Amino acid sequence: MIDAIFNHRSIRNYKNEPISDKILDQILQAAIRGSNTGNMQLYSIIVTKNNDQKQKLWEAHFKQNMVVQAPVILTFVADINRFHKWCELRNAGTAYDNFLWLYNATIDAVIAAQNACLEAEENQLGVCYLGTTTYMTEKIIDILELPQGVVPVTTVVIGYPAETPPLTDRLPQEAVVFNEKYTEFSDEQINEFFAEKENLEYVKELIKENQTENLAQIFTQKRYKKQDNLFFSNSFLKIIEKQGFMNNE
Ligand SMILES: Cc1cc2nc3c(=O)[nH]c(=O)nc-3n(C[C@H](O)[C@H](O)[C@H](O)COP(=O)(O)O)c2cc1C
Repeated sequence: MIDAIFNHRSIRNYKNEPISDKILDQILQAAIRGSNTGNMQLYSIIVTKNNDQKQKLWEAHFKQNMVVQAPVILTFVADINRFHKWCELRNAGTAYDNFLWLYNATIDAVIAAQNACLEAEENQLGVCYLGTTTYMTEKIIDILELPQGVVPVTTVVIGYPAETPPLTDRLPQEAVVFNEKYTEFSDEQINEFFAEKENLEYVKELIKENQTENLAQIFTQKRYKKQDNLFFSNSFLKIIEKQGFMNNE
């Protein structure tokens, strides 16, 4: 498993080869074994293999090709619906239709997703997370017919890799790990931590292509722009209210 972790790279091109039921089941079991809040399992996993469903998801995920290419798409959702139903049936009242528990349920969903990814990679499968789940939440709720108390958190495509991309860079360990207490960064440290990334050949090419001054500007001016972030952030707030997670009074 440790080899799988250190060899991780997101795969965006897949072979036309199905995943056996046995391996898929193992991946789902690994997801389910993950730690979770209060052992309440406040997540669900929607498995998509059907081509019509994939086509709809492909549209929702900004037409990222891997959604139709990969044999299996797993959508991990935060889910208080099942637990609330149980509480109601047992005359226990309900307590989780608020923002804090969306947060907890989201953590559960992400842990399950990463366990699934690790088990998939351990079985020589490739994976890629889809952040478009957070942008297109409402559409995905429609496609997967998610009821009240359920919000999509993340999506993972899984299949046999048709590519072996290079490992991507990471910030040095001292940039992301603190001993005992967080210590604020000096400008010099920030320069030093990001230097390796900024000096990669492909990054220099990207800067040319994007006609920006530097890599940070590619993020803020091209990839994840403030106006888009505000739009999606506000629509997300409305959706979580609609799905019943904002009863905060
Ligand atoms: C929450 C999340 C959302 C992501 N969304 C996308 C996506 O929509 N499309 C994509 O091609 N890669 C996506 N990725 C993959 C990241 O770009 C990738 O993990 C990162 O660049 C590091 O590369 P590596 O996974 O190959 O190490 C996502 C990853 C995460 C964790």
